[in-house]
Amino acid sequence: MSQEKRIGIFDSGFGGLDVTRAIVAALPEYEYLYLGDTARAPYGDRSQETIYAFTKQAVEFLFAHDCELVILACNTASSEALRKIQQEYLPRYAPDKRVLGVLIPAAEDAMEKSSGKKIGVIATTGTVASGAYTRELAKFDQGVQVFQNACPLLVPIVESGEQDSPETFTVLERYLAPLLREHIDTLILGCTHYGILESQIRTIVGPNVTIISSAAVVPDKLRAYLARHPELEAGLSKGGSIRFFSTDATDTFKRLGSKLFERDIEVEKVSLG
Ligand code: DGL
Repeated sequence: MSQEKRIGIFDSGFGGLDVTRAIVAALPEYEYLYLGDTARAPYGDRSQETIYAFTKQAVEFLFAHDCELVILACNTASSEALRKIQQEYLPRYAPDKRVLGVLIPAAEDAMEKSSGKKIGVIATTGTVASGAYTRELAKFDQGVQVFQNACPLLVPIVESGEQDSPETFTVLERYLAPLLREHIDTLILGCTHYGILESQIRTIVGPNVTIISSAAVVPDKLRAYLARHPELEAGLSKGGSIRFFSTDATDTFKRLGSKLFERDIEVEKVSLG
């Protein structure tokens, strides 16, 4: 049996490579496996039941490939599946393994930085419908006001490489207008793909709204988590490599994934379930 102990990163597709790049840059010493469920993406409009079933299969795959710790880079999976995995699946089937999401780190950072506790969230339909951001933000402060908007057009826009078009700017303006009318002071980019739209979003929201993105937040939170769990950290292999798995190793995954990861990636095709 392999002695490797890795960090697994899961996303519904390749969008999670954005936060993966930031994690690997900040913590280059560990061994990583990235898994994108491209064949079944997007998850954003699927039912909670399906998202849980798919995410569980992905976590099982990563555990079977020597991952001690799995990060759900996907906001939709973090919103719809993480709690059940942590509360029901892990205690029963993998009590020594850990699964973390990207939602709590973003919520925590937003609460630290928000001046007026008026926080906007843009995300997929599934993430917004789950109410997970509202719930997690309220845990820090019951008085927080959360304004959410589902942005179902943004993932297809990014995946078709249209992020810089004038039409995209118009779509973003439409999605952000209801949040700006509420005078939000902080905006959470609650989806893997939205980091790539950050400069357009900044232009629309102006300089006074703090933007929270996974890539900027998760690496430091992960470092702090590992420092709080020295027994886990000491057991992780230090080799500095990363492998990429996808359930549908398409040219798009390679092309857009390489762009998000800022390095050419080779993808190995695997099946889940
Ligand atoms: N990865 C998803 C998220 O962060 C976006 C893409 C999808 O809908 O699968 O919510």
